[in-house]
Amino acid sequence: MFIVLEGIDGCGKSTQSRRLAEWLAGIPDAGEVILTCEPGGWAGGDEVRKLVARGDFSNSWSEFFLFMMDRCEHVSRVINPAIEGGKFILCDRYMPSTLAYQILSSTIITESVTEKIIGLPEIIGLPEPDCVFLLDVGVDVAKFRMASRAKSDYFDERGEDFFERVRAGYDRLMRSDNVSKWIKVDASADEESVFMELKGHIERIMVSERTERANK
Ligand code: TYD
Repeated sequence: MFIVLEGIDGCGKSTQSRRLAEWLAGIPDAGEVILTCEPGGWAGGDEVRKLVARGDFSNSWSEFFLFMMDRCEHVSRVINPAIEGGKFILCDRYMPSTLAYQILSSTIITESVTEKIIGLPEIIGLPEPDCVFLLDVGVDVAKFRMASRAKSDYFDERGEDFFERVRAGYDRLMRSDNVSKWIKVDASADEESVFMELKGHIERIMVSERTERANK
């Protein structure tokens, strides 16, 4: 099982993926659980995170290709072997992040280029998640949550409009993706309620997987 958590900064996906991984680790049915993340979820990933943080690119496509390079290595070294080994993968951000942050948030990339890029994951053979949880939260709530973290001025640096466009980008991806199963969760609720909702969805997915396997 390959599950991805997505959402704008401050939506709470890192906290929720950690809690889900802890819960799943205690369930024999889930098998071996792997919690990983992008960018940086592979051995060379720290270097990528440093480059992202520095962010002094002169070509607007550099960031896109950097995240794609990070993902390709992560897929080959971590995700594909885990899928082949039948493990339960929880991944904090994946391809939808690059599409929402680098492509759909852009005010200069044209619709025809966007359409081509949306087709790229399939062309390069990236594995499709079984489920993408979209932790949806308003930009005001996310900004308030981020204010208490280390990157407290991140929202002001990038601008609230940017995050509105990323959020709208996620919605578009959810509506247009006919391969992965997207589940939108209201992440403005308290941590425990969001966790219980995610847990409920995963339990249901596991039951239907088991039923499908038994009927084969
Ligand atoms: P994240 O790991 O969620 O943040 P944190 O540093 O709190 O652990 O992601 C780091 C940032 O990178 C976040 O602002 C989203 C951004 N990002 C992209 O712009 N494109 C991508 O493809 C990915 C994976 C992340």
